[in-house]
Amino acid sequence: MQKPNAIEVSGLTKKFGELAAVNDVSFTVTEGEFFGFLGPNGAGKTTLIRVLTTLIKPTSGKAVVSCCDVSEKPDSVRQRIGVVPQAMTSDMDLTGYENMDIYGRFYSIPKKERKEKTKYLLDLVGLTSRAGDLVATYSGGMKRRLEIARALVHTPDILFLDEPTIGLDPQSRRVVWEFLEKFRRKDSLTIMLSTHYMEEAESLCDRVAIIDAGKIIALDSPDNLKAQIPGNDIISLTLSDTSRLDEIKNILSGIQFVHKIKVDGETLRIYVDNGAQNLTSLIDAVKGAGGTVSSVGIHQQSLEDAFIHFTGKSIREEEAKKVSFLIGAGVPQKLGR
Ligand SMILES: Nc1ncnc2c1ncn2[C@@H]1O[C@H](COP(=O)(O)OP(=O)(O)O)[C@@H](O)[C@H]1O
Ligand SMILES: [Mg+2]
Repeated sequence: MQKPNAIEVSGLTKKFGELAAVNDVSFTVTEGEFFGFLGPNGAGKTTLIRVLTTLIKPTSGKAVVSCCDVSEKPDSVRQRIGVVPQAMTSDMDLTGYENMDIYGRFYSIPKKERKEKTKYLLDLVGLTSRAGDLVATYSGGMKRRLEIARALVHTPDILFLDEPTIGLDPQSRRVVWEFLEKFRRKDSLTIMLSTHYMEEAESLCDRVAIIDAGKIIALDSPDNLKAQIPGNDIISLTLSDTSRLDEIKNILSGIQFVHKIKVDGETLRIYVDNGAQNLTSLIDAVKGAGGTVSSVGIHQQSLEDAFIHFTGKSIREEEAKKVSFLIGAGVPQKLGR
C-alpha cells in the first residue's frame, strides 16, 4: 500500500523583490522517507526550508506539511515538526541538558516526560556524559548532535535539517549521519535535509531533488539519477590551455564511443563507454587536434556527475576535492582492473 504523504508542495514560489529564491517548486515526500535537497549556495534551499517550517510565508503556491497548510495553520504545523536551522541556535551559557529542557518547556511537555525524553535523546546522540557541561565547551559536532536531539524533544512527525553538517570535519559528519539513520529507523521519522555535500545526499537520502536557481531540475533516488547519465564512465581531461578547445571538442564529439562532452573551465568531462580501454585513443585525439593534456582522471558515475549532468556545472566548493580524487584515487583503481 502506498504510504501517505508527509509533505505536499505544489507551485511554491517565494520572491524577494524581483528574485524568485524558490521558483514554482512541486514535490511530495512520503511518511518515513529521507528526502534531500541538493544544490549550491544560493540555490534556494534555506528559503524553501523556511517556508516549509512556517518562518516565512510563500509568495504563491501551496505547501502542506504533516497535517496542514503552512499559510493557513502555521501553529499546527510547528507543533508537528522539528527544525535544525543552518546556524547553531543553542544557548552557549547553558548546559546541554538545560538547552533541551527549555525547549521541552516551549512545547509544554510535562516535567516528568520532559526529563525522560531529554535523557533518552541525549543518550541516543552520545551526550549523556557531557549533559551537565556548558554548551560553550562542546565541539562543533557535539553542538550539532545536541541541536538534533533538541529538535526531537516534542516527538515531531517530520525533522527538517538545513545543511546539518556544514563546517564539520569528516569524522564528526559521519557521526551525525549515523545518528540521523538511527532516529529514522527507531522512530520512522520523515526527514528532509538540505545539503551541498554530494556524499551526504548519496549516503542518506531515499530520494534527492537537485535544486538550482530556485528550481527543481531533477528528482529521483541517487541510483536513478546516476542511471540517467549517458556513457558508463567519465574521463576528465584537463588541458594545459584552452586555446584550441573548440577544435578539440569537435574532434572528440565525432568519436563513436563518446556520448557527450561537458566543458568546465579547462577540464573536458567526456562520457564514454569502456573508459579504461578508450583512454589512450582520446588522449591521442586531443594531441591530434593540437592540444596538450595536463592531467587525466577516469571514474564511474557518481551523484556529482548526475549533478553536473542536470545543472551543467559542479558544486564549486567540492571541485578541488573531486579533482584530487580523480587524479589521485580514480585512475589507478580503474586502470588497474
Ligand atoms: N531575506 C532575503 N532577502 C533577500 N534575498 C534573499 C533573502 N534570503 C535569501 N535571499 C536570496 O535568495 C537566494 C536563495 O538563498 P538561500 O535560500 O539562502 O539559498 P541556499 O540556502 O541554497 O544557499 C539567494 O540569491 C539569496 O541571496
Ligand atoms: Mg542555505
